Amino acid sequence: MTLNSSALPPMVSGALPVLGHAVEFNKDRHRVLWRGYKEHGSIFMVDFGISKTVVLVGPEYNKAFFEDTDTKLSLDKAYVFLKSLFGEVGLTAPVEIYNNQRPVLYEPFGRQKMLRYTNIIQQTVQEWLDGLGKEGEMDITEEMSNVTQHVAGRTFLGKEFYDSVGEEFWKEYETLGKALDPILPPNLPIPKFIKRDIAKKKMYNTLAPIIKERRNKSKKYDDFLQDLVDKPMADGTFMDDDAIVKLILALMFAGHETTAGQGAWSIIQLLQNPDYLLQVKEEIANHVPYGITFDSNSLANLEKILWAVEETSRIYPAADILIRMTNEEYQIGGYTLPKDMPIMTSAMVSHFLPEFFENPHTYDPTRFGPERNEKNQHRYSTIGFGGSTHKCAGMNFAYNEMIMITALLFQQFDLELLTEDTKIVTGLGACKPCPAYIRYKRKPAEELVGQETLKEAIAGACPHLTKLAKEDKQN
Ligand code: HEM
Repeated sequence: MTLNSSALPPMVSGALPVLGHAVEFNKDRHRVLWRGYKEHGSIFMVDFGISKTVVLVGPEYNKAFFEDTDTKLSLDKAYVFLKSLFGEVGLTAPVEIYNNQRPVLYEPFGRQKMLRYTNIIQQTVQEWLDGLGKEGEMDITEEMSNVTQHVAGRTFLGKEFYDSVGEEFWKEYETLGKALDPILPPNLPIPKFIKRDIAKKKMYNTLAPIIKERRNKSKKYDDFLQDLVDKPMADGTFMDDDAIVKLILALMFAGHETTAGQGAWSIIQLLQNPDYLLQVKEEIANHVPYGITFDSNSLANLEKILWAVEETSRIYPAADILIRMTNEEYQIGGYTLPKDMPIMTSAMVSHFLPEFFENPHTYDPTRFGPERNEKNQHRYSTIGFGGSTHKCAGMNFAYNEMIMITALLFQQFDLELLTEDTKIVTGLGACKPCPAYIRYKRKPAEELVGQETLKEAIAGACPHLTKLAKEDKQN
């Protein structure tokens, strides 16, 4: 550890005059961060021209990063560009507001409550699979984005309401996403910000009436939205309609593209690793045969898929960088950072440290099994879902969703990866694979349920299996 409290951490090489590393970082931030780590170790700086950011790598620095948040480090000041989209709500709110809202934010994510969503997830994923037809090619990233979008919409807003506004609602939502800009002042009267404000108003006008209805008939519903309406904040008051709309939009943002990116990578990595995929297929055949309704038991039995999803979160973390701002002079690694200095932690580098992960560059989901349990070597060695107070509220939701998508997809389809060199696309939302084309072929109905069951189903006029059997015959 350097004992030089007056100097700032060393700068990674390759900074250009004026622009610093901004251009290279935009193009390939992992290259810049890895270079910094190789040159200087676990603490160094990146130059963005207008500001310099300190980068921290490794579990001990991650611990400080997460545990000093809300005291010495600020989260909302770092995510100021998100405030222009969602306002001050949840993690974009100052700490006093966040602490007051926290009970509401966490209410729909309790362990028991989570089971309410398995039906919605299964039904939505099954509709997607049914819509794929018998065979074809798809961009798995795009497909994941659609399916996770529908899962989020139906879960957070209620199926009936969401299905009645679906497409329109997401068009407005996409307009918000396009206005995400960490550099320009958010109030500039430029087209993308003007469109953002119009979209926000429209979304508010769409959502406000359903929230009003929920307040009037609170006994009728037992779902995500009703939890937000009914749960009092820490001070005993209730969130107003405006705050609930903002919270829903922020949750859509937090949970949609991240799950889509991570879910797509999980499928791709399984296809790239046929030996492990065989074990996963066996697990699916043993525990979740076609037609089963998922519940907590079936989810708990899918441990090989869980480890695969965990391994993918390690290798391709959707939230690959997280940011904070110093609230005061901040001592770390023997340096004294000034107030209002940005700090970044990099999951992409931390997750590959050989001190914590055996053969870190090898895809090996069994590292997360009970025998090796590598993630428990240090509480902050894996940080794909953040850590401490602000650790992802939707982590279990996301895991359940990714496990069910993987299980249902491989249960019903044979898949072949067409794109050989899928690249990581980094953005403000999440890291995603692109391009990622997959050829798919639905398994024959007879293989899915067995000859006898199929006969019985057809005799009993089961519409689903009769349709599948008819499609099989057409070829
Ligand atoms: C694979 C999918 C996901 C990934 C990788 C992910 C990642 C993260 C990370 C890294 C954080 C911490 C941010 C920070 O410390 O700066 C976070 C926070 C959060 N996430 Fe997720 N997330 C995912 C899915 C979801 C889903 C599905 C939801 C909601 C349904 C959600 C809701 C939240 C919320 C509300 C927070 C803020 C928690 C707080 O401040 O107390 N996330 N997520």
